[in-house]
Amino acid sequence: MITVADNSSNDLMSVCKRRGFIWPSFEMYGGVAGMYDYGPLGCALKNNIVEMWRSIYKGREGFVEIDSETINPREVFKASGHLDNFADLITYCQKCQAPYRADHMVKEFYDNPDILTPKQLEEAFVEHKIRCPACGGELGPVEEFNLMFRTNIGPGNARVGYMRPETAQGIFVNYSNLYRYNREKLPMGVIQTGRSYRNEIAPRQGMIRMREFNQMEVELFVDPEDKDWVRFPEIENGTLDLIPNTTLQLTTMTVKEAVEKGVIANRVLAYFVYTTKQLLISLGIDEKRLRFREHEKDEMAHYAADCWDAEVLLSYGWTEIVGIADRGNWDLSRHSQFSGEDLTHFKKYDQPRETEVEKIQPNSKALGPAFKGKAKAISEAIGAQPISAIKDGKLKVTVDGEEIELGSEYFQIIKRVEKVTGERVIPHVIEPSHGLDRIFYSVLEHAYEYDEKEDYVVMHLAPAVAPIKVGVFPLMEKDGLDEMAKRIYEKVHTHRVEAYYDGSGTIGRRYARMDEVGTPWCITVDYDSLKDGTVTIRDRDTTEQKRISAEDAPRIIDELLAGKAFADL
Ligand code: ATP
Ligand code: GLY
Repeated sequence: MITVADNSSNDLMSVCKRRGFIWPSFEMYGGVAGMYDYGPLGCALKNNIVEMWRSIYKGREGFVEIDSETINPREVFKASGHLDNFADLITYCQKCQAPYRADHMVKEFYDNPDILTPKQLEEAFVEHKIRCPACGGELGPVEEFNLMFRTNIGPGNARVGYMRPETAQGIFVNYSNLYRYNREKLPMGVIQTGRSYRNEIAPRQGMIRMREFNQMEVELFVDPEDKDWVRFPEIENGTLDLIPNTTLQLTTMTVKEAVEKGVIANRVLAYFVYTTKQLLISLGIDEKRLRFREHEKDEMAHYAADCWDAEVLLSYGWTEIVGIADRGNWDLSRHSQFSGEDLTHFKKYDQPRETEVEKIQPNSKALGPAFKGKAKAISEAIGAQPISAIKDGKLKVTVDGEEIELGSEYFQIIKRVEKVTGERVIPHVIEPSHGLDRIFYSVLEHAYEYDEKEDYVVMHLAPAVAPIKVGVFPLMEKDGLDEMAKRIYEKVHTHRVEAYYDGSGTIGRRYARMDEVGTPWCITVDYDSLKDGTVTIRDRDTTEQKRISAEDAPRIIDELLAGKAFADL
């Protein structure tokens, strides 16, 4: 394969713009950094990526999908921790006031500047003589900048809202609904795709850092004591390129070894790291340019107990495109604490267990004389209280709207052996979080091939993601060739198998137009077609051509899409 030029991102972006994959948003008004619109081919490619993600998570794993609001009230992000913790470090030029992400200013001097504190960053500016790239001015103090976009829900300031920075919270706040829908069983897998918003300080790397972007997130709720996955044996011998945070060295091992050696903490996390690899490869990501790096302890998001990033090698360097985190019980316990809602799972034991339990028992002998007619109601109220309700030896109960404080003479703690059928636990969450736009861009960059000598671009997109599956051409737009080609186009084209009719320019030019947008196959109608009903079909990657019956074209395209090799036609 012809090597990809170092500036492939520029070349690629210009192809993408010209051919209708992506366009910088609001270009007629000067554009806004970090904002892009998807054109017709981009939209089709993006939808195909989403469909492949769905086919794994909804199809193979049987997870359910929801679609929640993108504007959330402040309370959601207070509970989730984003209001207090979701910040990047910013510095401003003291002379021209240009804002910069502080860790990005020192990245050529440190392997992982993400872990530096504000003070260390300020010291690094001095030590490495780093100044404002725009005007050479001195960089100011480093401070936190919250990345969420704030808004008001309704007029005035009555209800403050934020644009969601991750789709995940919409799943957590619906836990009770989902748990009921899932008939109160774990594991429970829920997926969601949609827009997320981050007011990124310096969105410079094209689609890698956008202010409004698309995520495909998977939240898997599991029993904290059962972090296993039923299909683990199917993938345990697959290999992974891993950089653990203990060694920071790249190491290749099987999924099974990774768990047995404690490199990946548990089988469910390992299963979904490998699932991420399977998905990315099926989308066309080059396996040799894919690795999984574990977050260093200081780099982990506020909610994460462990996190592995799927990183791909792009012209920008190694870039995170998916994060697979073990969020522990952070989200559910915080939302439970802030909302007062019970967000637990009732874990039923296989057999009821005899357990010694402590109970509060009312002391009727003392209650009767003291409270007369109310004694019975008070006695019942005491019996309904948990042990934790006793504060400083006293217990408060409410009877007929009246709060009554009772001293220890009115109740006692007794121990009883009871049959317990289960216990309430807060589920843990395993989360593969996919950045759709980063995946989209990576798929294009790994598919892109430019032959400088011929000035020829071929996009080697996997057929499943290619926006156009088949080009249909008449050799000449006359003598009935065009009518036959249009008939074939009509038969092949559906909303899932997009076909493209092209009758203009030389046949070579038409192949080139299809190669450039990654169309895997082209069908050409020639004069023999009129005589014997056959057409040529050309394979993009080998440029090999075969003759097939025009009648069979829709079936043959379906077979090729299902994985049949062109050589086997
Ligand atoms: P980075 O360190 O590059 O800012 P992140 O660690 O903040 O990324 P996560 O919070 O883990 O990213 O988000 C989950 C996924 O969402 C990422 O793997 C990435 O693919 C995507 N993503 C995050 N921020 C952006 C963005 N600004 N533009 C496009 N995609 C993004
Ligand atoms: N849900 C993970 C993230 O967006 O950070």
